[in-house]
Parts: sequence; structure tokens; C-alpha cells
Amino acid sequence: MSGGLLELRQLRKNFGGVVATNDVSLRFEPGTLSAIIGPNGAGKTTLFHLITGKLPVSGGEVLLDGSAITGLDRTEIVRRGIGRAFQVANLFPSFVVRDALAAALMAHAGRTASLARSFPPRDVAERADEVMELCGLAHLAGTESRHLSHGDQKLLDIALALALDPKVLLLDEPTAGMGPDERWRMIERVHGLWLARGLTLVFIEHDMDIVFKISQSVRVLRYGAVLAEGTPDEIRRNPAVIEAYLGEEHAL
Ligand SMILES: Nc1ncnc2c1ncn2[C@@H]1O[C@H](COP(=O)(O)OP(=O)(O)OP(=O)(O)O)[C@@H](O)[C@H]1O
Ligand SMILES: [Mg+2]
Repeated sequence: MSGGLLELRQLRKNFGGVVATNDVSLRFEPGTLSAIIGPNGAGKTTLFHLITGKLPVSGGEVLLDGSAITGLDRTEIVRRGIGRAFQVANLFPSFVVRDALAAALMAHAGRTASLARSFPPRDVAERADEVMELCGLAHLAGTESRHLSHGDQKLLDIALALALDPKVLLLDEPTAGMGPDERWRMIERVHGLWLARGLTLVFIEHDMDIVFKISQSVRVLRYGAVLAEGTPDEIRRNPAVIEAYLGEEHAL
């Protein structure tokens, strides 16, 4: 799938008196790999929820390749090309990986007629095999999804997102809860599938070594607003970012 320009225009989200997203305007160019960083409670996850339609916006717009997707139904937003990780193992715990993936794909396809047209059943097994390969899960195809390691369950979630052929893939802390080795394996996979698919990838991450190593650009949120954006080098040198978030440890 080509395209994948994601634009946020003056996006806003209020939870009662809390402004979780405060006039956020950002542009993610097609095919780029970007990180979103910021302190706990900065509004990173909320931003993803506004893009994917999990939460309604209080103001502003989300555009994919120039078309507004704000306020659309979540399934329709996926159909337009915004991918996010699902929790496949929770949905189909006793299914083996290949069947869990196929079942999740079918379930998704069944939700809208147009999706069903783009995923006829004979394609499902093929798609499942392709994304298992891409995510390094092929050798686990016959393992029950509940018996996967934490890291492999996360890969399965990403595999389903990829099977739905997104233009933009959003990953909220893909390495959360992992030890150092597993963390790097996961990030190498994520980097590899970004290279293989050429999609627009945006990930939220707290590990600055990972962020600075693989991102092309970094956006920093604080108090729901954009504090800074730039290349990893620009961000690690930015005095406001160092003061608000990084401290001296990661600064040059
Ligand atoms: N459903 C909700 N109802 C009320 N307040 C919420 C809700 N979701 C988030 N918030 C608040 O919005 C702010 C942003 O939260 P969010 O989860 O987006 O932060 P985050 O940057 O993802 O943090 P973390 O790094 O801890 O994951 C916080 O003050 C949070 O308490
Ligand atoms: Mg979060």
C-alpha cells in the first residue's frame, strides 16, 4: 500500500479539567520512522487513541493522505490504513498462532463488506503465513498463542496489524515489560519490518538508546503539547528537552 502521510492539525483532548492533548500539530511523512517521547502522562498514548478513533477528539483534525479521518468508526480507520497492535493472544488464547492470526483476520474482515471484499478467505492463510515470516513467528505457527513469550505475543499483535496492510503503523511502547536482550530483538524486528514494508511507522518509547538509534525523527510531548521535534541529534542537544525530560545522561 503506498501513501502514508499522517497529519495532525490542532488536535485537542480534554478529560474534564485535564488537557491531555493541547493543540498538537504534527506531520509524519510517508515511509518515515518516527519516535514520540515524553514524561509519563505527557499525552503520548492519548494522541494514538485520537488517531485510531479509540477516543473522540475534543477539537482539531487527523488526516491520512490529505483526507480527514477524524470521527470515523475504529474499523473504518483501520480500513483507511491506520494500523495498531491488537491483543491477539487475549482474543484467541487456545488457538495456535497461525489459526489465531487467521481468525483475527477473518473477524476483522467480517466487520465491513468492503473489508470482506479485500480479504477473501483464500487469501487469509497466505497473508497469515507472510506476516508470520516477516515477524519471525513462522517457527511458532503451531504453538498455542497463550504459550508464547511476552515478546512473541507482542510480535503476534504486530503481525495482525501488518496483515491488515496499513499505510501507517502506530506502536505504543513495543518493548514495554521486556528485558534488555528481548528489547533489542523486538526493535530489530520492528526496524526490519519497517524497511520491508516501507510504511510510515510511529512508535512511543521510553528507552532513549532505542529512540536515538533507530528513529529518523523524534517528537517530544510535555503536558499534552509538542515541546520539540527534530532529528535524534537535534533532540538530544535541545536544552528544553534536556531540562524537561532527558536530563544530562543522554545529552551530548
Ligand atoms: N480516560 C481518561 N480519563 C481521564 N484522564 C485520562 C484518561 N486517559 C488519560 N488521561 C490523562 O491524560 C494525561 C495523558 O495520559 P497518557 O496516558 O496519554 O500519557 P502518556 O504520555 O501515554 O504516559 P505514559 O508514558 O505513562 O504511558 C494524563 O494526565 C492522564 O491521567
Ligand atoms: Mg502511554
